Amino acid sequence: MRILITGAAGMLGRKLTQRLVGSGSLRARPIERIDLVDIVEAPTGSALCTARIADICQPGVAADLLQPMPEVIFHLAGVVSGEAETDFDKGMAVNVDGTRALFDAIRCVEGVPRVVFTSSIAVFGAPFGDPIPDDFHLTPLTSYGTQKLVAEALLADYSRRGFLDGIGIRLPTISVRPGSPNAAASGFFSGIIREPLAGLPAELPVSREVRHSHASPRTAIEYMIHASELDSAAVGPRRNITMPGASVTVGEQIEALVRVAGPATAALIVESPDPAIAQIVAGWPERFDTQRALELGFVPDESYDDIIRAYLEDDFATG
Ligand SMILES: NC(=O)c1ccc[n+]([C@@H]2O[C@H](COP(=O)([O-])OP(=O)(O)OC[C@H]3O[C@@H](n4cnc5c(N)ncnc54)[C@H](O)[C@@H]3O)[C@@H](O)[C@H]2O)c1
Repeated sequence: MRILITGAAGMLGRKLTQRLVGSGSLRARPIERIDLVDIVEAPTGSALCTARIADICQPGVAADLLQPMPEVIFHLAGVVSGEAETDFDKGMAVNVDGTRALFDAIRCVEGVPRVVFTSSIAVFGAPFGDPIPDDFHLTPLTSYGTQKLVAEALLADYSRRGFLDGIGIRLPTISVRPGSPNAAASGFFSGIIREPLAGLPAELPVSREVRHSHASPRTAIEYMIHASELDSAAVGPRRNITMPGASVTVGEQIEALVRVAGPATAALIVESPDPAIAQIVAGWPERFDTQRALELGFVPDESYDDIIRAYLEDDFATG
């Protein structure tokens, strides 16, 4: 089994690599080789892995990555939401043109790989149903969501034509995101847990009533693995599937932190209202009815308490 991961140096790409190396098999077959590609060097950590620094948007790069054709491709390379909004050209280049370059290269090489594509719930736009059903219309209100939607449509059409065998998974916000705070408007959802656990204060820019849908990095990786192993006949022509998330209010996140780490930790959260962030967040979806994913066997985090515990087990020591 040969695997290719694009965006392998990113937060989810690194975790996916570790998970695959740890299990040593995929689709009940031993993994012989994992090719990692990113514009920055991805850590390998195993003789199974080969890292390559390359930009998937550049001519010829995608074709080179397919010699020989991998059986499974995890396409994670992307420009994430904040940057896709501030740098329109870069978002289009990577999220749309880079994705098309990869899919077209696959079309031109013999073999029909399973392609797992990490889409986002940003393909949905307000006004929302509550919950948002699986068949909710796709009317994104950001450039990132629009770019993910274009890629979803390409994935479905290239699958319909038999060029590749794609599954798109619409991930909810991933929390608790390890590492330093970032500039994303959603960053506080992770920051109010991660920073207090490290003994640091964290600013809460929105009200405790704000509701949002979360998945742990660990669960997001299991969604990718499951998507790589799904029987495409069971999926049918609707190749893009909304992943389940734990829908909680910020207040419920904080109550979970109290239960897992105690009140002194949660007391490090400082209310610091930011109307600009509150306005952005007000346009985001709150909860989904993801019956389809559940029927297809995707297993969500059971609670936000579990999401915090997953962070403590997987990432706390390394920050
Ligand atoms: N983290 C989340 O909350 C979340 C939610 C929904 C969807 N996603 C999607 O999941 C994927 C991975 O997310 P992440 O959180 O690991 O993001 P990340 O920013 O940590 O990783 C993305 C990686 O893509 C690489 N990349 C960018 N342009 C590239 C190019 N032209 N060629 C090769 N590599 C390139 C970046 O260098 C980076 O390492 C992305 O496609 C993202 O849109 C993430």
